[in-house]
Amino acid sequence: MKAVLCKAFGPAETLVLEEVASPAIKKNEVLLQVHAAGVNFPDTLIIEGKYQFKPPFPFSPGGEAAGVVSAVGENITHLKVGDRVMGLTGWGSFAEEIAVPGYNAMPIPDGMDYNTAAAFSMTYGTSMHALKQRANLQPGETLLVLGASGGVGLAAVEIGKAMGARVIAAASSADKLAVAKAAGADELINYSETNLKDEIKRLTDGNGVDVIYDPVGGDLFDQAVRGIAWNGRLLVVGFASGRIPELPVNLALLKGAAVVGVFWGSFAQRQPQDNAANFHTLFQWFAQGKLKPLVSQTYPLAQAGTAIDALANRQAVGKLVIAVR
Ligand SMILES: NC(=O)c1ccc[n+]([C@@H]2O[C@H](COP(=O)([O-])OP(=O)(O)OC[C@H]3O[C@@H](n4cnc5c(N)ncnc54)[C@H](OP(=O)(O)O)[C@@H]3O)[C@@H](O)[C@H]2O)c1
Repeated sequence: MKAVLCKAFGPAETLVLEEVASPAIKKNEVLLQVHAAGVNFPDTLIIEGKYQFKPPFPFSPGGEAAGVVSAVGENITHLKVGDRVMGLTGWGSFAEEIAVPGYNAMPIPDGMDYNTAAAFSMTYGTSMHALKQRANLQPGETLLVLGASGGVGLAAVEIGKAMGARVIAAASSADKLAVAKAAGADELINYSETNLKDEIKRLTDGNGVDVIYDPVGGDLFDQAVRGIAWNGRLLVVGFASGRIPELPVNLALLKGAAVVGVFWGSFAQRQPQDNAANFHTLFQWFAQGKLKPLVSQTYPLAQAGTAIDALANRQAVGKLVIAVR
């Protein structure tokens, strides 16, 4: 089978496409014939050796995949050969075949194609967990989403609307904001052209926002936190800007606000039943047309590095997907 390989840490241009042996599955794994693989921010880090996991060389990047089960380990009971499955892999999905642990593989719902399925788990799983379990977002509350046209950001806009919130989408360009608007955002802030904190205050009559969803960090965090409402919840999702911000905790005191960490991968492992319930709801919303995952561009396997570069260089909107087959 063909696989994109990282043989030493470095930029995406050093990735190579090679013929390798098919993976052997363990008792608790399924073998997936990969049709599509989603590109995520961790792919930009893992190939550079900057991610929390450092797989042994050579490895394939790619944290999520969708395809067809071609073999099942002897301990697998919930899946069979021929099932359409979406799986979380951490890495390894930019390849024609991958072994996926059974607990990380779930059937693709009817009506969802492979490209969409490959773009779904990570972003919607993260944003659902963030807004439901971590923020306890309520109908009528105001939700601010930073990086609102990105992978997790755009999912947060849609989920926020499905939960009945008023959603303020913030992003760096008019084109990106148009994408967030199409996904249902009520208000838009272009933080390249305006002061984020001032705009938050203007759009909320000085009250601030109830929930801040922050996958960006850096200077945007510094501004946004000053626009949080009384009893607000600040969701720490990621640091796409490259800087982990620091918080003067008197701001939390003055607003009776909570700073809440979000780590969806650990949640899914530690609370599998809650995660399954989240996906049950997400699949219902998808069937009802409330969620419309945006795959803005697909790339052939040989161009996986180009896709990773586009994401790293802030050019992507919604999701980029590698069309493996
Ligand atoms: N906590 C969790 O469980 C969890 C799960 C999944 C992902 N994450 C994290 O969430 C973050 C976003 O992931 P994603 O896959 O949604 O990425 P993405 O699609 O690239 O979106 C990131 C957004 O961040 C903004 N941004 C600001 N400065 C940037 C910079 N210097 N480089 C790149 N983007 C920048 C961009 O929007 P503008 O140009 O509009 O600013 C971009 O749309 C990452 O840090 C990722 O590790 C966390």
